[in-house]
Amino acid sequence: MWRAVLVALVILVLPACDKDRISESYWRERGAQAVLPLKKNLKRALTKAMEEGPVEAVTACHAVAPAVTKGASSQVAKVGRTSHKLRNPSNAPKLWMQPLLQEYLSMPDQMEPKVVALDDDTVGYVEPIYLQPMCVHCHGTAIAPDVQARIDELYPADEATGFEPGRFRGVFWAELSRN
Ligand code: HEC
Repeated sequence: MWRAVLVALVILVLPACDKDRISESYWRERGAQAVLPLKKNLKRALTKAMEEGPVEAVTACHAVAPAVTKGASSQVAKVGRTSHKLRNPSNAPKLWMQPLLQEYLSMPDQMEPKVVALDDDTVGYVEPIYLQPMCVHCHGTAIAPDVQARIDELYPADEATGFEPGRFRGVFWAELSRN
């Protein structure tokens, strides 16, 4: 009997404690700061690459995006991008990101950034990415044949087309050290 009560208490109380253990607004702020350099650097690289036209820009993205992403991580924050429809399989969602992607997909009116406690040392942060008009060159519904050919060549398993502007494309994520 007491055992049952104890189990019930643990089940009821633990999630509540867990939630209190991280201050959502604090970690959201830290997450937003952590992904900012990645956002800026990718945008800069993409804008520059597009000066040569979208076909060359696909090649340029293929060449620089992974390094830009790696370079944006630090000792206190690992950062990256992921999606439910991937272009580069090495951007695949880690286990903790999968339910969050599903939440964004199933609740399109709740698009604020989210934080989750991953373990005693780490907090996870995700921030949704939407398709903008210029993104349709490479992720849209009517991609030019030469651009599509370059995508197929570099990403034979590509799933990241067919998006319209305003659509949820994926997330920026961060794994933030609590120390
Ligand atoms: C010139 C073509 C091009 C344009 C324009 C472009 N992308 Fe991409 N996108 C790519 C390529 C190539 C990759 C894969 C990069 C890599 O290898 O890591 C990619 C990857 C991504 C990823 C990472 C997840 C995945 O599927 O691998 C996201 C998110 C993304 N793009 C969103 C956007 C958004 C939002 C825009 C508009 C602001 C945009 N892209 C514009 C070519 C493009």
